Amino acid sequence: METQIGIQCRKAIDTDVDALYELIESYAEQGIMLPRSRESLIRQLDHFFVAVQDDKMIGCGSLFRLGQDLVEVRSLGINKEYKGNGIGSKLLELLETEARSQGIPKLMALTYEVRFFQKNGFQVVEKEVFPEKVWTDCVHCKKQHCCDEIAVLKMLD
Ligand SMILES: CC(C)(COP(=O)(O)OP(=O)(O)OC[C@H]1O[C@@H](n2cnc3c(N)ncnc32)[C@H](O)[C@@H]1OP(=O)(O)O)[C@@H](O)C(=O)NCCC(=O)NCCS
Repeated sequence: METQIGIQCRKAIDTDVDALYELIESYAEQGIMLPRSRESLIRQLDHFFVAVQDDKMIGCGSLFRLGQDLVEVRSLGINKEYKGNGIGSKLLELLETEARSQGIPKLMALTYEVRFFQKNGFQVVEKEVFPEKVWTDCVHCKKQHCCDEIAVLKMLD
């Protein structure tokens, strides 16, 4: 999928792992994203999409299945020099298309970037709407009792 001239969004491949790791790590260091080890990226690579320009990775995003009808947007991040150019929205569109093609009706995220998600058709909801998320991930998170991320949801039907 082409965005601006020369920017391509596609599924991640083996050779993307190092750049994926670096991009996610740069946001994890700021507490904006959960860190991912190279090993977990290799295991989950099938679920990742990337945006590239001239062979340079400038964005990524992934889907994580939480339940039969629910999938989470994870690790969505754009290299800071490329923010605000519609690349995040394109990757999100690709993730939506992928979720739809798998017949999953609900797409959620926990995020600090509420307005970005609202612009892309998501609505703010209570975290408790997602017991699948709370009981698989949140219970293991050190921020579980002081979580300041906002839950957002998009119905894909
Ligand atoms: C959130 C993020 C992925 C957005 O990607 P992006 O490529 O910069 O976003 P886009 O250019 O596609 O923006 C789409 C729209 O959302 C708006 N938008 C983007 N980020 C915004 C923000 N922080 N606050 C308000 N509006 C925002 C843009 O203005 C644009 O609106 P427009 O279409 O009216 O111009 C990117 O800023 C990022 O990597 N943030 C840090 C990591 C992060 O928090 N990821 C979310 C994890 S769930």
